[in-house]
Amino acid sequence: MSTTKLESIKDAALTAIKAAPSSKELYDLKVQYLGKSGSLTEIMKEMASLPKEEKPLFGKKVNEVKALLEQAYTEAEEALKKKEISSKMAAEEIDMTLPAMSRFKGTQHPVHIVTEEIFTVMARLGYSIRTGPLIEKDYYNFEALNIPADHPARDMQDTFYIDKSHVLRTHTSPIQIHSLETEKLPLRVIGTGPVFRSDSDISHLPNFHQIEALCVDEKVSMADLKGTISFFVREFFGPGLKTRFRPSFFPFTEPSAEVDCSCPICKGKGCSLCKQSGWIEIGGCGLVNPKVFQAAKIEYPKWQGFAFGFGIERMAIIKYGIEDIRLFPENDVRFLRQFVK
Ligand code: PHE
Repeated sequence: MSTTKLESIKDAALTAIKAAPSSKELYDLKVQYLGKSGSLTEIMKEMASLPKEEKPLFGKKVNEVKALLEQAYTEAEEALKKKEISSKMAAEEIDMTLPAMSRFKGTQHPVHIVTEEIFTVMARLGYSIRTGPLIEKDYYNFEALNIPADHPARDMQDTFYIDKSHVLRTHTSPIQIHSLETEKLPLRVIGTGPVFRSDSDISHLPNFHQIEALCVDEKVSMADLKGTISFFVREFFGPGLKTRFRPSFFPFTEPSAEVDCSCPICKGKGCSLCKQSGWIEIGGCGLVNPKVFQAAKIEYPKWQGFAFGFGIERMAIIKYGIEDIRLFPENDVRFLRQFVK
């Protein structure tokens, strides 16, 4: 009776051990059959009820089965370990042929990108670049540009004064004077770089960038100015955009105008960027005021000229549809990463 039972335990255990799908399940089988309260231990207890002469033989058989199961267990354990390691390795295999993960390379600042684009367009018209000092004498920033002492632009609220006679330049127009004083005529220059104004809100920065063109030659008219600006706007923003001039006033140009271009986002239909007007202001312009020539000791009307000045952040806002000018100096990489060239 017990022998038959022992045989069936042996067969069941061997089949189960060989079929165990994982180390964990195999270990459970070890507990079930060979453990302290496992089937073999249980069957040993049954020996007590056997006739005395059968006991040694039965004990031997149980030990044989035990040894057999232990061996089967060890073999199965090894086989499973091998299988598990190789499937783990297969799962973690690195495909060396995959392209490497790309690292973020860094981009140029949108102000820089726009400046370069403007240079490229203007260089085709024969303009070359000047930068000029950021700290200007009052004379270059105001006086030589015909900005009188009582002009509101001279107010401490608009201008950062270094001392009584030096300011952080409030525009790139003083570069005009430096060029007129030192360069040969005729002349075509682009003045550019940071400018400073005591002003800060959603559309104004205390430190922004301007780009300014000055052309001096014999017989320069408003038609030349308008032609140059129209060409520039078309090349910079793309075809199909119109420009318009609105009469305005700048002390250093006469006549003066404000330049609008048709909104590149809605193409003139009206949207939130252009405040439903279809037009966006991009800067100021005009013919060089004779008083500026006079200050720079240049003969007028032999020499005549035009000038125009645009805000670079503003051009970038229009070109890329950026909502808040304050994003430019923030330098948040999530903003900058959008300007991959
Ligand atoms: N300097 C003027 C400004 O900052 C812009 C301008 C430049 C106007 C050249 C006319 C000619 O507003």
